Amino acid sequence: MSGSFQWWWKGSRQMIIAIAGGLLGMSLASGQVLASATATEAVVQQGAYLARAGNCMGCHTTRGGKPYAGGRRLNTPFGEFVTPNITPDNETGIGQWSADDFWQAMHHGQSRDGRYLYPAFPYTEYTKVTREDADAIFAYLRSLTPVRQTNLPHRIRSPYDNQLLLFLWRVWYFKEGVYEADLSKSEEWNRGAYLVQGLGHCDACHTARNVWGASQDDKLTGGEIMGHYWYAPSLIAPQEAGVGDWPIETIVELLSTGITSDAVTTGPMATIVRQSLQHLSPEDMRAMAVYLQSIGKPDPARKTRRIPDMPEGVRQYLARGELVYEKYCQDCHGESGQGAPGIYPPLAGNRSVTMKSPLNTIRSVLYGGYPPSTAGNPRPYGMPPYQHIIRDAEIAQVVSYIRNAWGNFGSLVSPLDVDQSRGNEF
Ligand code: HEC
Ligand code: HEC
Ligand code: HEC
Repeated sequence: MSGSFQWWWKGSRQMIIAIAGGLLGMSLASGQVLASATATEAVVQQGAYLARAGNCMGCHTTRGGKPYAGGRRLNTPFGEFVTPNITPDNETGIGQWSADDFWQAMHHGQSRDGRYLYPAFPYTEYTKVTREDADAIFAYLRSLTPVRQTNLPHRIRSPYDNQLLLFLWRVWYFKEGVYEADLSKSEEWNRGAYLVQGLGHCDACHTARNVWGASQDDKLTGGEIMGHYWYAPSLIAPQEAGVGDWPIETIVELLSTGITSDAVTTGPMATIVRQSLQHLSPEDMRAMAVYLQSIGKPDPARKTRRIPDMPEGVRQYLARGELVYEKYCQDCHGESGQGAPGIYPPLAGNRSVTMKSPLNTIRSVLYGGYPPSTAGNPRPYGMPPYQHIIRDAEIAQVVSYIRNAWGNFGSLVSPLDVDQSRGNEF
């Protein structure tokens, strides 16, 4: 592992010194006084940056609540988890924790008292984070103002509220280990892989889960987010969100501003861009893009794909959808679904609209939405919600229409599909 470390700390000599001198001492000794005296400002800054990359605040803050004080509810099929307080409060937060305790949580998924943590905390990905990075995040969390806020209990459904079961789950599905660099690839690629697979926890959403909530072996091939009624598309498949044939600059643009002339991030992905990705350095965004481009499959068939002829009944169904489109959607998305670059996404040729799962498209129409507000796109234009304006039958028609107009091709959507896409908003 040590050989691969070199690229890691490129340009952060200050930090290496700080870590060698200070944090190692901190992890060996314990106690708040020593820790805060030795963690230098540079390490704290680096920790703040890495915490952004991991979006720790996004989950550990409830709406309107104090940052990192926890209390946010996460719904899953296994019950409701409430995120804990990770400010350095002695009684209700992690004030008594040592760097080793924190490492045990991030790397092994075990709390200070030995309790196994639920993978609703994405330690299954954070386990790839290096000790040095984890220590920097810990130094940053220690630097926060302690907030006294008692943790609320999770409400986990039986039989999942069981440490033995969780233990078995871990034996079966949890692969612990720091990211190992692939020396046949560039430093940039490795940095991107480290961020995507580790702190970025892209996997946590973009990979299908089995009934036990464990991600499947095929990483990043797309999956429905548990309990959230959103489909996180494959980052490999060209028909979904694979970016194998996108220029690096466009990938960076999408992930750091939330919008390009052809695509837009919505729902949970808009949240990730707003809370986390837009704050990453240009170098790190580029590294991520290089990695994502390398795992995306090219799509040689795209230009030549033939769309089968449609039976008359289907054509009539789509014609009704077209009327809905003209009345409610055309003003923004354009007569031929071309959108307005950087303002309204195109619907023609848009993979988010044509991909196999119509879930996100239905939800966009039901609930509307905003691309993330980012430095590159501070005041995004929004889309109004239609759930109270048009009936499910019409939503089904218009979604079927936009999936099959202007050269698009996708399965038809029924009113039942629309109803089944309702659910708690992210
Ligand atoms: C997707 C939501 C989510 C994200 C992102 C997330 N956490 Fe958590 N975290 C949780 C949940 C839920 C728990 C509670 C797990 C349990 O009790 O079994 C938790 C638990 C923890 C714990 C254990 C606390 C204790 O009292 O045992 C620590 C430490 C922690 N998180 C730190 C972090 C850090 C640092 C980051 C960012 C690198 C982070 N979390 C990002 C959801 C999240
Ligand atoms: C909280 C869940 C979640 C996490 C974490 C997450 N994503 Fe997503 N992502 C989604 C959802 C849902 C969509 C579909 C909505 C959309 O298209 O924006 C999506 C869409 C995307 C798209 C396609 C956007 C488009 O419309 O063309 C890309 C690319 C992407 N994600 C990359 C990533 C990367 C890289 C990471 C890790 C740094 C990541 N995602 C982490 C949920 C998530
Ligand atoms: C006022 C302008 C406006 C109107 C009217 C409008 N939209 Fe949108 N639409 C937007 C904007 C802005 C977005 C990006 C929203 C986001 O990122 O969450 C969007 C996003 C979408 C998306 C998601 C695209 C993607 O790449 O993820 C779909 C699908 C969509 N609209 C369909 C429709 C349909 C169908 C109608 C009519 C029923 C409609 N829109 C009406 C502005 C509009």
